[in-house]
Amino acid sequence: MSRLNLFRRRLRRPLIAASVLSADFAALGVDAARALAAGADLLHIDVMDGHFVPNLSMGPVVCQALRRRFPRAFLDVHLMVDDPSTYAERFLDAECDSISFHIEAQPKPQKLIDRIHARGGCVGLAINPDTPVSRIRRYVTQVDLVLVMSVHPGYSGQAFISAVLPKVRAVSKLLRPDQRLQMDGGVSPITAQACREAGCDVLVSASALFGAPNRALAISQMRLRGTK
Ligand code: DX5
Ligand code: ZN
Repeated sequence: MSRLNLFRRRLRRPLIAASVLSADFAALGVDAARALAAGADLLHIDVMDGHFVPNLSMGPVVCQALRRRFPRAFLDVHLMVDDPSTYAERFLDAECDSISFHIEAQPKPQKLIDRIHARGGCVGLAINPDTPVSRIRRYVTQVDLVLVMSVHPGYSGQAFISAVLPKVRAVSKLLRPDQRLQMDGGVSPITAQACREAGCDVLVSASALFGAPNRALAISQMRLRGTK
């Protein structure tokens, strides 16, 4: 299976995305390899510009380095930036597989959706906890995944906001079987079941995965708790 198809196929099991924001940055390749060896399906790269969110994180060089180190890994970029159009190009140049950007940063996303698809990338539309589904409704059919934030973006290690679950259920009803629904923020073996039951099939985890004493166990618990 080519890595580009990962978000576009019908899934029999949820995908676990290891968010490298909680990896050991001084040994990123080693730590990401451990997450993949423990069973993570893809690597999630959180990009923060200090404007859209108050934190700074990783640029395209990190994506490029991960691509060199992991030629077959699916690299899922999550842009939390004011200017997603510019940075989408740079991360596609750095050979990521998918780009998710926020509707709050790009209220008219059509051109960017088309541009990412034209360059062969998967497209995700992300919404913050306080943003209503109505903001993305007309674009949902055109993207490969919807990313619902279950924390206010900017940092790993925050508590899961369960008030987003009704929104997740509403988004789930809008999606075809070939589209993914990604939950990001506070996902752990404890909260995974509620995410799955609400319809999510891509679970992003940073602190609960990289901080687990047994990562393989944490991943299998997140994967198995709750079934659609
Ligand atoms: C938050 C990021 C998340 C974050 C998740 O702004 O988008 O991907 O890394 O971290 P945890 O899993 O620790 O909540
Ligand atoms: Zn993220």
